[in-house]
Amino acid sequence: MTAASLKTPAELAELFAFYASAGVDEALEDAPVDRFAEARPRQAERAPAPVAPARESRAEQRAPEPGLNRMPERPAAAPGLDVSRVPDAPARPMAAATVPDEGQIMLARQLAASASTLDELRQHMVAFDGCNLKFTAKNLVFADGNPSADLMLVGEAPGRDEDLEGLPFVGRSGRLLDLMLAAIGLDRTSAYIANVIPWRPPGNRTPTPHETEICRPFIERQIELVNPKVLVNLGGPSAKTLLNTTEGILRLRGNWRVHTTASGTAIPAMPTLHPAYLLRTPAHKKLAWRDFLEVKAKLRGLA
Ligand code: URA
Repeated sequence: MTAASLKTPAELAELFAFYASAGVDEALEDAPVDRFAEARPRQAERAPAPVAPARESRAEQRAPEPGLNRMPERPAAAPGLDVSRVPDAPARPMAAATVPDEGQIMLARQLAASASTLDELRQHMVAFDGCNLKFTAKNLVFADGNPSADLMLVGEAPGRDEDLEGLPFVGRSGRLLDLMLAAIGLDRTSAYIANVIPWRPPGNRTPTPHETEICRPFIERQIELVNPKVLVNLGGPSAKTLLNTTEGILRLRGNWRVHTTASGTAIPAMPTLHPAYLLRTPAHKKLAWRDFLEVKAKLRGLA
């Protein structure tokens, strides 16, 4: 059943209510649209344009998406950072400029390493244009909670609510996370929360491995600067990225691992199930409950 096959406003309203209850929050077209092609205006001026089908010409009339045709510029040099030593990205046409490349991973690493405070790190991330997720996101979702807390939790990537508010875990999974924290006597004044990916992937799609590698230096430095006594990895992507493993979360969860920072500090890490997964699979809440009790005991033991 598609919107096109429905006739009455009531039928349409029913369909949209169904979509909304299923978590759909993006209106997409039936056929894929090549946004990179749309961002090649110069090329189109030079070569005679092929006759475009009606759908494409409508799409072309739309305002370009924010940042899609922006050439990423180097961020302002961080104090003490010699940006001139960061390899230049190869010359590319404008449209390809938003596609991440190895140079951007290097730049992210250097910027992250040069940040000596969380504020500096946030500023570098605000200025960093090397990850295309930034151009479709509304806000940088840096962190919430207490940076002096003993416990740091890291999720995967912001969703719609987090993108709108610029804070991690403020939607439905955030509310469940707050309950999980409360169950071990903690809240956002006694825990610090961030994500591996700080910009919402469009339509909540899975971040690509390349996007994850670009964002990795920032979250790793964030963990290093917070220097928590205990880290909790919320869900498989966080556990895989920060614990350098390919094991699935159902195998990983409940077992202590170690996250080692760039300076060699070993932080005990507990992989557990993501609150969004628990909302879909409430029968597994008892597993997460056990993991959080482990975390509570570890924090007590380290106090
Ligand atoms: N899921 C995440 O992994 N992070 C958020 O901030 C929200 C939902």
